[in-house]
Amino acid sequence: MKDLVFKLIDNEIKRQTEGLELIPSENYVSKEVLEAMGSVLTNKYSEGYPSFEGVPGWTEDEISEKVLPNYRYYGGQTNVDRIERLAIDRACKLFHADHANVQPHSGANANEAVYFSWLEPGDKVLAMNLGHGGHLTHGSPVTRSAHIYEFIPYGTDKTGDIDYDEMEKLALAEDIKLLLVGYSAFMKIPDFERVAKIREKAEKKWGHEILLMADMAHVAGLIAAGVHPNPLDYGFNVMTTTTHKTLRGPRGGLILTKGKVSSPLKAVKSKSLESIPTLIDKAVFPGTQGGPLEHVIAAKAVAFGEALKPDFKTYAKNIVKNAKKLSEELKKRDFVLQGGGTENHLILINIMESFGINGKMYEKALDMIGLTLNANALPGDTGGAFKPNGVRLGTPAITTRGLGEKEMAKLASWMEQVAKICQKAKTEAKLKDYEKELDELHQEVTAVAITFPLPTA
Ligand SMILES: Cc1ncc(COP(=O)(O)O)c(C=O)c1O
Repeated sequence: MKDLVFKLIDNEIKRQTEGLELIPSENYVSKEVLEAMGSVLTNKYSEGYPSFEGVPGWTEDEISEKVLPNYRYYGGQTNVDRIERLAIDRACKLFHADHANVQPHSGANANEAVYFSWLEPGDKVLAMNLGHGGHLTHGSPVTRSAHIYEFIPYGTDKTGDIDYDEMEKLALAEDIKLLLVGYSAFMKIPDFERVAKIREKAEKKWGHEILLMADMAHVAGLIAAGVHPNPLDYGFNVMTTTTHKTLRGPRGGLILTKGKVSSPLKAVKSKSLESIPTLIDKAVFPGTQGGPLEHVIAAKAVAFGEALKPDFKTYAKNIVKNAKKLSEELKKRDFVLQGGGTENHLILINIMESFGINGKMYEKALDMIGLTLNANALPGDTGGAFKPNGVRLGTPAITTRGLGEKEMAKLASWMEQVAKICQKAKTEAKLKDYEKELDELHQEVTAVAITFPLPTA
């Protein structure tokens, strides 16, 4: 008899098929990405790296045929070296990078490796305030990095944009070593050029190099498709990302760098921005990780290959089109949106101001009809982490399913109906009194969802 786990996986396939995924950091991978992830590559140990020298410029056929020198601690790497090399080359092409490290197990690991590559304990980092849309790994006191380095937060202004004046003031008041632009709840397009100028001024003031880093985990797919500016085109040294959000690959991390590429495990005499590719390779392995997940790296290579195709551009454009349309439809129905709308795939609703209900209750009620999103704090939120006044949603996953502008109006209408039920119920516990109404809506959602099958169906 098959293990119980497979029954639970089948249940999850049903949940994903019959519901609609609005969590902006999730997506549905292709059959090929899933196949690579579930392959025998999981059997292989490959600590170290394939060669980075001499290979750039080779065609993919050459990579798959020529024997590569490597820097590995185990034998049997012929296929793994070539697969990792393909992943690196495709990532560099997608993001205009000089080098890519495809080994980070997650976005958090990628960020930690960058900090470890460049900073000394006690060094200062200027990064976006978590409460204003930044990410836990950008200095939340619950993380290990925040125990080692000193994070100084900058915030957003009344329009929901980054407060660049505050960023500049702080960069010139504090002797920072790293300036970070990145977020998980920010709906504008950052002014990378302005940030690069702030770095330049701060470097002059402090008399040393400052690492300019972007964590583009959320918008990487939009950047790859050219529908969002690329920080590496504006003088940023490093860009980290997850591979599973808008980029639509397997769950994992990626670090892209500008600089001089050299032997990955070579000692670097003195830290400089030019040597950042090597510093980062060493910080990933052996600095913070052991053996790479080569089955996941293979799936990353497949996903990067997909993102290089013209179809992916259309997909990314549609993500933004759907997010803008959904924003409009929500505003028509009295939803108050943070920043007034969106320029990317993300929408942040002030659900307390809109309907007088908290984000957690709204998240739970939407779950009951098969719409999945997450409660999220707003700048200056008084509701605390577990009962914030906002909810965050986005369009990458539903766009993969093929939903278009017509369905965005339907979604907004379901969301309005659920908000009104929450108003009547007042508390989460009382939602069960409205089970019949919620069940009817659930059936409507399922009827629409099953007409848009998962790519892996
Ligand atoms: C901006 C940003 N950085 C890093 C991460 C961490 O990624 P992971 O969950 O893969 O560690 C996330 C994930 O939500 C994110 O949004």
